[in-house]
Amino acid sequence: MLDRNEVDRYAVVGNPVAHSLSPAIHAAFAKQTGESLSYERIEAPLDGFARTVADFLAGGGRGVNVTVPFKGEAASWVGKLEANAAFAEAVNTIVPDEAGGYVGHNTDGPGLVMDMERLLPGATGLSVLLLGAGGAARGVAAPLLDGPARSLTIANRTVSRATALAERLRKAGYGSVAGTGFDTATGSFDLVVNATSAGLAGGVPSIAPDLVRGAYCYDMVYGATTPFCRWAAEAGAAGMADGLGMLVGQAALAFELWRGVLPDVPPVLAQIRARIGGSDA
Ligand code: ATR
Repeated sequence: MLDRNEVDRYAVVGNPVAHSLSPAIHAAFAKQTGESLSYERIEAPLDGFARTVADFLAGGGRGVNVTVPFKGEAASWVGKLEANAAFAEAVNTIVPDEAGGYVGHNTDGPGLVMDMERLLPGATGLSVLLLGAGGAARGVAAPLLDGPARSLTIANRTVSRATALAERLRKAGYGSVAGTGFDTATGSFDLVVNATSAGLAGGVPSIAPDLVRGAYCYDMVYGATTPFCRWAAEAGAAGMADGLGMLVGQAALAFELWRGVLPDVPPVLAQIRARIGGSDA
């Protein structure tokens, strides 16, 4: 049995965090790769993120994952931001650097792109509709455009947030980007990604069913079934997936940043899927 003090310690910090699957995912990665580490959940008080993370790292913690609602605060806390985290203004992975500081990364978008490669192998040149313009959408927009998307339409309940995100993407050098509202979105899409938090309250974004008919639909929220996946199936989507693959993918990329080894995602995804139910298309 390993002494807990002899292994490198990692943690996910959030509020609430009790139901986080990250400890199970990282334990599975550690077993698969033979890395010795521990990974725990830490619930930070809503006004105590900085203090909680600083204490954990000062006490020997080697890295931190950040989840709701602290990803934006984490971006302000770290000394340096990797490019995607800087664009997203959100950090999900904190990595120590050699100078004794901390770098903020955002592996959510690359995790989504990794999952798209699993679900739609080799897909490129996709016309993508991104629903939502909050932190979750900001984290995936540029990686989608760097990856399988040829064009990106961002539709949001609050139209000004969608047009502002589209404008930021254009300023960052991305072409073929538009921002619009749910009722003004038009076009024919290959892929529709739900990055809104509507599903957390059991809702779905109020878009026309025509927009998803024949499209592959991806819900960044995970669950055995999600309201958006159910709605998309009824609306005639070509395929649906929840965000469990993205969750495991972003964790694999965080593990690689910390340990220098990229775990094999599919066996761990299958293991975690068995715990929560549903299927991986
Ligand atoms: P997150 O970090 O999860 O993206 P956020 O920044 O608060 O959180 O953004 C939540 C996103 O979900 C926003 O795009 C929000 O739309 P608004 O910008 O109009 O607030 C969207 N959202 C939340 N509840 C929604 C609902 N019931 N229907 C549609 N969109 C919703």
